[in-house]
This record gives sequence, C-alpha cells and structure tokens, in this order.
Amino acid sequence: MTWSPSSWRDKPAKQLPNYPDADALKRAEKILAAMPPLVFAGEARRLQSQLADVAAGNAFLLQGGDCAESFAEFGSTKIRDSFRVIIQMAIVMTFSGAQPVVKIGRMAGQFAKPRSDDNETIGGTTLPSYRGDIINGFEFTPEARIPDPQRMVQAYNQSAATLNLLRAFAHGGYADLHRVHKLGLDFVKDSALGARYEEVATRIEEALNFMAACGLTGDKIQSIRETDFYTSHEALLLPYEEALTRTDSTTGDPYACSAHMLWIGARTNQLDGAQLEYVRGVKNPLGLKCPPNLDSDTLIRLIDTMNPDNIPGRLTLIARMGHDQVESKLPPLVRAVQREGRNVVWSCDPMHGNTIKSSNGYKTRKFDHVLGEVRGFFNVHHAEGTHAGGIHLELTGQDVTECTGGTMAITDENLSDRYHTHCDPRLNATQALEMAFLLSDEMKIARKNNRDNLSSVAAE
Ligand code: PEP
Ligand code: CO
Repeated sequence: MTWSPSSWRDKPAKQLPNYPDADALKRAEKILAAMPPLVFAGEARRLQSQLADVAAGNAFLLQGGDCAESFAEFGSTKIRDSFRVIIQMAIVMTFSGAQPVVKIGRMAGQFAKPRSDDNETIGGTTLPSYRGDIINGFEFTPEARIPDPQRMVQAYNQSAATLNLLRAFAHGGYADLHRVHKLGLDFVKDSALGARYEEVATRIEEALNFMAACGLTGDKIQSIRETDFYTSHEALLLPYEEALTRTDSTTGDPYACSAHMLWIGARTNQLDGAQLEYVRGVKNPLGLKCPPNLDSDTLIRLIDTMNPDNIPGRLTLIARMGHDQVESKLPPLVRAVQREGRNVVWSCDPMHGNTIKSSNGYKTRKFDHVLGEVRGFFNVHHAEGTHAGGIHLELTGQDVTECTGGTMAITDENLSDRYHTHCDPRLNATQALEMAFLLSDEMKIARKNNRDNLSSVAAE
C-alpha cells in the first residue's frame, strides 16, 4: 500500500502511449521535474475547502472548458473568451441562483485524451488514434501520430502561459463586478438571451451602487474586485503528472502541481489501475467520472480508495449518464453514497453521455439532450433529498457550431460553418449562457425545496 509519485508504474495502465524513444521520454521527464510547479498546494487546499461548502449544500461548482486544448488554437483571445464565458455564467448563477459559485476551468493542462479505439481508419488507411496534443499530432499522417515526449514540455509551457493570463484576469481587474455589463460577449448581445443577461447586469449594478452608498466598495471587499479561478484536467498521462508532483513545504504532503484539481476519466477508473494509484496519493481535490455502467459497490470502493478519510471537498462525483439514463442510473449511486455516509460533491456532466453522429457525419450533441440530462440530474437529487452540487461542461467562449439546437437553432447543416474542436463538440457562448439561466432556475427550485423540507421538519 505504500505510495510514491512513481508507484503507478507497477500497476496495469490503460490509455498511456508507447513512446518509441525511451531516452527522449527520460529527457522530457527530467526537464519537467526541474520546472516550477504550475499551482501551489495552498491554492489546492483553498479549492478543497470551497468544495467542502459545495458538499454541504452551500455552494455550487461550475467546471468547464475545452474537451481538448490544442497547440494550434493557443492564444490570448481564446483564453480570454473561455474565462469570460465562465465568469459570465457564474455571475448569472450567483445572482439568480443565489449561491456562491466555485469556478474551475478545464484549462491550462487539459490535453491528453482517452480514446475508445487505439486506431483510426480513414479511406482504407489505418493509423494510431490521436490522443491529444500532449501525446501526438491531430494530422492524419503516420509521422504525426507517433507519440513524442517533447510534446509534454510544450504542453507544460502552454499551460504556464495560460495560467499566467488566467491569474491576471482573475485578480487584475478583468473580473471586477463593476465590469458586469462589459463581460457580455458581443455576438450574444443582440439575442433575447443577451437582453436577459443585460437585465441581470443592471440589477447587479444597482446592488453595487447601493452597497457603495453603505460604504461597501471594491477597495474594501476583495470579492467585488477579483475572483478565484482554478484549473483542472483528466489525470491520464502519468509520466507528465509524476514529473510535476511536488512535496508541499508547509505540510510535507505530495501534491499534483500540474493543476488544482484532477479527475479520473470513465475509461481509466479501474480500482487496481495506474491512474487510481497515482491520484490516491496526492492531496489535491479529485473528481471521478461516473458512467452508466458503474455499479454502486464499485463506486463505494472507488470512493474509499480516493478519499479514505471521507474528507468533505476532496472528492467530486461527476455523473455522465446520458439524458435517457440519468433518472434510472443515478438514483442507486446517490442512495449508496447516502447509505454509506460518504461525503461527496455531486456534479453533472451532461456532455459525454449524449454524443451522437449528425446526419452529415459530425460528432455532435443535441442541446436539448444536454439540458434534459441537467434537468434529470436535479430531479434525482430533489427526490433523494441530496444537493445537486455542480455542472461539468465542454464549452468555449467562441461562436462555434458544434452542438445543435439552442436559441440560435443550430442545425446539422450549420455544423460545418465553424466546427473547430479537436475532440468533442462544445457548447458555444450563447448555449453556455442559456445553460446558466437553466441552472439558475433549477438552483432556485432546489433552494425552495430545501426550505420547504426544513420548515416541514420543524413543524413535525
Ligand atoms: C472528457 O471529459 O473529455 C472525457 C473523455 O470524459 P469521460 O471520461 O467521462 O468519457
Ligand atoms: Co470530451
């Protein structure tokens, strides 16, 4: 049971690349091991304590970003737009849903992708699958698909630059609540949704004016002028994670310093597997994707491996069941967790159980299915008396056409207009904002139900 940053090497590992050049791999690992950490242990602890508030039902988690970050689409505009749409959603949800919102990006490290098939065949040619820019190239050529360890160093550098800008946005005035009107994205402004956002923004402005008149201003209250923004990615590529593991000098504990939070994906959740072995030893907050084939006994064993001390905020269960399965597959898992008294955050990933092929061959998701899974998730938690605590989305602040439906009514035919994803289809900024309003409505209903339950208990 002894753990070390490299003890995963003795376990069966899924989804890891076979690097043909072992020396090049060693060189890249050595470079990464000498690099500064991307995050500090204290920040990960702060996130964990905020997630403990979510677990207790007093806050909501918003986690989102690309399915896969890419080297080609790297740039400040893209980072800014993703940050902006997440902040915009969080403002709507904090104001209309009336709960603090913990914000975590799938950013600054979300590069490695698990694949269902090891190979991809196009027009009679079969090549190894693309596994994310941190491993191999997207281009369909034999050379591009060879795993190259130097890509880990490039991913580290891109993550460092991304995180640098995210920290600047979060703390440097960009997220100041006084800018609430300016955070509205231009191409959303003209829609009915844009008008709804402007209405929220105006009411926030009025509240800020009132508070200022009472002496509560941004220079006195930090949360008016800045925000906390955390990073996360799937704990998949273990040579990268091992090389970025550091011992925290204040506690002596090991932390994954590639991101504040790491999660275990649906394809690498084997109890005796390498990914589980790695994450169980680091002290960061963790996530676990829960697919529809996960049974409750296995779930409890996974929870006990990942959070043996039952620490609130340490573990977020991210259900990704599909819109047609969430109401049948989620309740047994929620009941088992309640019965066994395990402290978790329940979050909903309405993306990965709803992926389909469009009539013209695009990998897509119907926005109605995505919303349907979210509603189902809230219904289940309402029925079980538990807190629907979070949402996990693939989204971008850009005006892409990757998921169909929404107020802009994107059709299968529109998908080719701006289909930019390197992996799964993301919500665009308009769809993300529509989602934020739906979540606010559901959060309001959930709070009312809680109050009603409390007053009926008090009356008994
Ligand atoms: C993902 O989050 O991009 C992903 C691959 O999800 P899952 O492991 O749930 O399929
Ligand atoms: Co994905």
